[in-house]
Amino acid sequence: MTTLVGFASAHGSTAEIAERIGAGLRAHDAEVAVRALEEVDDPSRYAAFVLGSAVHDMAWLPQATDFVVAHEGLLLQRPVWIFSVGMPAALRGPWKSFAPREEKHVVGEMLARLRPRGHALFSGVVAEDHLPPAGRAIFRAMGMRFGDYRDWDAVDAFAEDVARDLAPGPSGTHSPEGQGHGEARP
Ligand SMILES: Cc1cc2nc3c(=O)[nH]c(=O)nc-3n(C[C@H](O)[C@H](O)[C@H](O)COP(=O)(O)O)c2cc1C
Repeated sequence: MTTLVGFASAHGSTAEIAERIGAGLRAHDAEVAVRALEEVDDPSRYAAFVLGSAVHDMAWLPQATDFVVAHEGLLLQRPVWIFSVGMPAALRGPWKSFAPREEKHVVGEMLARLRPRGHALFSGVVAEDHLPPAGRAIFRAMGMRFGDYRDWDAVDAFAEDVARDLAPGPSGTHSPEGQGHGEARP
């Protein structure tokens, strides 16, 4: 049974995080496919899903939300984990308090829709030429610096949690809902 690590990425950093999660799962002998969500035409072939998106303007990219809306019924019947890639680690000083609020806003809708077994908010790559002039000005005015903020240890830890939860229990079934890391359980 194959697990889909599906991602939506505008500039590649989320795609690389998805590949790393895929590698982490494979290290635990899971069968994994890592795919851009817009290229997934038959999600019913996957037994479990790890779905992630870059965050733009405090929301998942449209190709990720479109996938969730189109396949919500199926996703609700299978184990799902989600991750979002924004720039919380770039925030400075008083702006740091913005991160939890943003996470609640961005992830909240997906938690309610998908009831995932776990979720994570990672920091990605923020490059000057990715932002429009107004965005660059706001970024600088907030005291932030462009750069690669990815924390690969945090990504590996998330993959490890998913792998442990995916592994069949002694009775040959997945661990019951609400066990494992389970941080996203309502
Ligand atoms: C146009 C634009 C808007 C963004 N808006 C947000 C945002 O609202 N919140 C956030 O945390 N990060 C935001 N970011 C930062 C990206 O989420 C971050 O750079 C991420 O690593 C991008 O992933 P990608 O390389 O897969 O596209 C924005 C980036 C761009 C280019």
